[in-house]
Amino acid sequence: MTQKDRIKTGFEKMGLESSKRHVFLCVGPDCCQSSEGLATWEVLKAKLKTLGIPAMRTKAACLRICSGGPWMVIYPEGIWYGNVTPQRCERIVDEHLLHNSPIRDWIVREHPIA
Ligand code: FES
Repeated sequence: MTQKDRIKTGFEKMGLESSKRHVFLCVGPDCCQSSEGLATWEVLKAKLKTLGIPAMRTKAACLRICSGGPWMVIYPEGIWYGNVTPQRCERIVDEHLLHNSPIRDWIVREHPIA
């Protein structure tokens, strides 16, 4: 397989063409215990797949807040959630990503990048 083919496959695997959102999750180690961040990451991955939600996901090592994590930011809305435990992640996926209803009480910052 050529490099061009591998790049094409990479874009196809991430679902770029069909994605409506991009979710970044910091898994620590400074804003949270890495074990907690990774547990949230596993929930995020599983729920996006199970529910067939058209969103790209990226595991980050730091989003430069470094306290009160795990941190999640969702684009294009630019909505930031802190303390995203596995349980909170489940609700964010169900309400925000599946039903387009952000959880207002949990939003720490909102800054769309247009
Ligand atoms: S380690 Fe998570 S924001 Fe820096």
